[in-house]
Amino acid sequence: MLILGALLLLFSTAFAAQGALEISLPKSLYATKYDLTVNVFLPPVGAQIPDEDAFRQKASVLIDFTVKEPTRLIVLNADGITVKQNFLWNGRSNYSNLPVVEVKSVQKLYFEVPYILAVGETLQFYIEYTYKIRSVDDEALGLYRSTWVDENKVTHHIASTQFKTIHARKVVPCLDDPTFRSVWSLTVHAPKGYRVDANTQEYQTTNNAQTHRFFKTPSIPSYLLAFAVHDQAYIRTVSPGGFKNGFIGPHEKLRNCTAWFAFTGQMIDTLVDKFKVVKLPFDKMDFIHIGRMYKGAMENPGLITLEPSKFCNYDNQIVLSELIVTHEMLHQWFGNSVTPNGWENIIMSEGLVTYYQIRLLLKRNPNLTLLTTPSMVIALPSNTSIYTQPTSINEVMNVGNDAQYFKSAAIFHMMERMMGPAKRLYNVQRVSENI
Ligand SMILES: *[C@@H]1O[C@H](CO)[C@@H](O)[C@H](O)[C@H]1NC(C)=O
Ligand SMILES: *[C@@H]1O[C@H](CO)[C@@H](O)[C@H](O)[C@H]1NC(C)=O
Ligand SMILES: *[C@@H]1O[C@H](CO)[C@@H](O)[C@H](O)[C@H]1NC(C)=O
Ligand SMILES: *[C@@H]1O[C@H](CO)[C@@H](O)[C@H](O)[C@H]1NC(C)=O
Repeated sequence: MLILGALLLLFSTAFAAQGALEISLPKSLYATKYDLTVNVFLPPVGAQIPDEDAFRQKASVLIDFTVKEPTRLIVLNADGITVKQNFLWNGRSNYSNLPVVEVKSVQKLYFEVPYILAVGETLQFYIEYTYKIRSVDDEALGLYRSTWVDENKVTHHIASTQFKTIHARKVVPCLDDPTFRSVWSLTVHAPKGYRVDANTQEYQTTNNAQTHRFFKTPSIPSYLLAFAVHDQAYIRTVSPGGFKNGFIGPHEKLRNCTAWFAFTGQMIDTLVDKFKVVKLPFDKMDFIHIGRMYKGAMENPGLITLEPSKFCNYDNQIVLSELIVTHEMLHQWFGNSVTPNGWENIIMSEGLVTYYQIRLLLKRNPNLTLLTTPSMVIALPSNTSIYTQPTSINEVMNVGNDAQYFKSAAIFHMMERMMGPAKRLYNVQRVSENI
C-alpha cells in the first residue's frame, strides 16, 4: 500500500489542481482490447420512471494491456464508477483484488500491482463494477435515458451513449483519451422488448432475447464507442453503390423520410468515391433518432446519433438534416479513420469536416452561401483562437467552439484559394501540418 499511500498524500496537496495532471494519462500501458459487458435497465414502454436507484447497474470489463514502460500502477479514467472486484492475470499468476484508490478530482482509478510490470508483458485486467445510467435532465452524457412520444401519446424510453469528449469513463473504466485506440467487444443485457444497436452488427441474441452480443469494432478511441437500447423501428437501405445503411426511429417519422434516405445513400457513395484513398472501415452506417442530445448529433462510426430536430427534418430552408448527415458522414474519415491524437488538434477533425461539408453542399443548395466560411468568421471575435490546448477536465469537456469549426474551415478555404482545390485528402493534411 506504500505507493497508493504516497499517491493519496500527493493529491491531498494543491498539486492536484495543476491542469496537466488532471487530463494526462501515463504512457506505461496500452490497451489493445476491451471486452465490455453492460447491464442496462429501462422501464417498460408507457411506464413511469422508477426510483433513481434502479439506474445504478452492474457491468464488467476485461482489458488486454501491453506494457510500454515499467510501472507498478494501472491508471484508468473513471467517473461515478464503483469497483466491486478485480483481478490481474499475466499468463503465469493471478492476482485478485489489487488495492485501488480513486482520485475524483482527476477522474482516475489507481490500481497497485504487487510487482514492477516489465516492458513487453501482456496482461489481462478484469474489473467488476457498477455505473449509473444518467437522466437527460441531469446531463446527456455517458449512458443516459431520454424519451419520445408516439402518435398515440404513449411514452417510449431510450438509453443511449454520448462519449465525446471524455464520457466513456462514466460507463467503463478505460484509457479515455484519443491517443489510445483499441478494439471493443460489446455485450449488452437489456430488458425484454428492447432492441440494442451499436457500432457494429449484432451476431448473437440469447437469454430470452435479453443478451445482445456485437462483432468487435476496428481499433477506435473510447469516445467513438456507442450503443443504444430502444424500441424504435428499423429500416435497412442500401446506397446505389451497394453500401449498407439503416435508419432507426419512430414509425411515423420513418414513413415520411424517403427523400432523406435517398440523399443519404447518394452522399455515402459520393464520399466513398471522393475519399477512396482511405477506405471506410465499418461495414454499416446506421442513423438513430435519440430523444435528446448534448450537441444535436454525434458521428459514432456505424451508429450516428441524431436528436429529433436533426432526424429527417425538412422544415428548415437550409435542409438541416442534409447538412447534419453530411457533417457526420465526413467525420467517418476525418476524426474516425484518422483521429487527432489530442483535443488541441480538433480542427483537423471539425475544421476539415466543416470545410468539406460546405464545398459538397454548396452546389446542391445555393442558400448555403449564407454559411460559407468567410461570413462566419466575420461574426467571430477576431481574437478567438482555433488552437487551444485544454489543460483541465472542464476545458476538455467544452472543446469544439465556433472558431474550431468555422474559423478553421475558413483557413482551409483560404488554402484552397491559394493552392487550388485539394485533389486528395492528404494534400490538405500535409499543408495544414505546416501552418
Ligand atoms: C483469476 O481469479 C479470479 C478470481 O479471483 C477468477 O475468476 C479468474 O477466472 C482467474 N483467472 C485465471 C486466468 O485464472
Ligand atoms: C411529411 O413531410 C411533409 C414535407 O416533406 C410535411 O408537409 C408533412 O407534414 C410530413 N408528414 C408527417 C406525418 O410528418
Ligand atoms: C433559399 O432561401 C429562399 C429565401 O429564404 C427560399 O425561398 C428558398 O426556398 C430557399 N431554397 C432552398 C433550395 O432551400
Ligand atoms: C477577446 O476580445 C473580447 C472583447 O473584444 C474580450 O472580452 C476577450 O477577453 C478577448 N479574449 C482574449 C483571449 O483575448
